[in-house]
Amino acid sequence: MSKNIERKVVVITGASSGLGESTARHLATRGATMVLGARRKDRLDLIAKDIRANGGDALAVEVDATKRTQVENLAKAAIDTYGKIDVWVNNAGIMPIAPLAQLRVDEWDRMIDLNIKGVLYGIAATLPYMLKENDGHIINIASIFGIKVFAPGGTVYCATKAAVRSLTEGLRMEFHANKIRTTIISPGAVNSELKESTSDEASSKAVDQLYKAWAIPADSIARAIAYAIEQPSDVDINEIVVRPTVQDF
Ligand SMILES: NC(=O)c1ccc[n+]([C@@H]2O[C@H](COP(=O)([O-])OP(=O)(O)OC[C@H]3O[C@@H](n4cnc5c(N)ncnc54)[C@H](OP(=O)(O)O)[C@@H]3O)[C@@H](O)[C@H]2O)c1
Repeated sequence: MSKNIERKVVVITGASSGLGESTARHLATRGATMVLGARRKDRLDLIAKDIRANGGDALAVEVDATKRTQVENLAKAAIDTYGKIDVWVNNAGIMPIAPLAQLRVDEWDRMIDLNIKGVLYGIAATLPYMLKENDGHIINIASIFGIKVFAPGGTVYCATKAAVRSLTEGLRMEFHANKIRTTIISPGAVNSELKESTSDEASSKAVDQLYKAWAIPADSIARAIAYAIEQPSDVDINEIVVRPTVQDF
């Protein structure tokens, strides 16, 4: 159990695998009550069951984060069940890598819909509760690719993650007086299912090679998120960049 994490209600999108799942499991062991959102409800149910079996508390909610009403329902489920939202983690994201020249416009749309609009829907869903309480913490998962552009291949993904960093900084500037903390988490290569969202064969091979050489476990990011949450309420960890030690980019 950890002071400043214990008994906090933490909502996390994309909790059915990778960073989201690992963060949910980690924060639950530190005493947080977890509200898990993603589309694969069967996987969320198993994770929630595991958390409860280990003495924690978790609620699984099916949500497509590209649908505003479903994200609102996720917030409502947290409030209806636990009466509050202390932390909201916008984590759900996809990374279909391909050179712009291939004009995979459908994939550009899907990245913008989830990686940017999904984050905005999360902010819209939780902000009214946090403003009412004059308290809260919004954590957005960006990427090292939001800081450095990786091209050809990552241009649109990088643009969505740069947008997440800008949105989070704007959120901080607008609501710091309301005691709302904001944190940008910018990971390098981390083991998860993310690379599976790439459908272009050549890009997929290149991404696979990089991940084989570099990737660190998802728990590394879970610990960084816990560090931001466990600070006293007058301390706001604004951004954390976490790379594998051997990652050069
Ligand atoms: N892994 C890395 O190297 C890395 C590096 C930097 C940043 N990131 C960021 O970390 C975040 C988590 O990714 P990950 O690496 O953990 O990948 P992951 O294992 O593929 O997890 C992505 C999560 O997002 C969920 N998701 C996908 N589409 C969704 C939708 N429409 N609505 C709701 N949930 C949706 C997935 O669940 P369902 O399919 O069940 O919906 C899954 O739980 C992403 O924002 C990613 O960009 C990852």
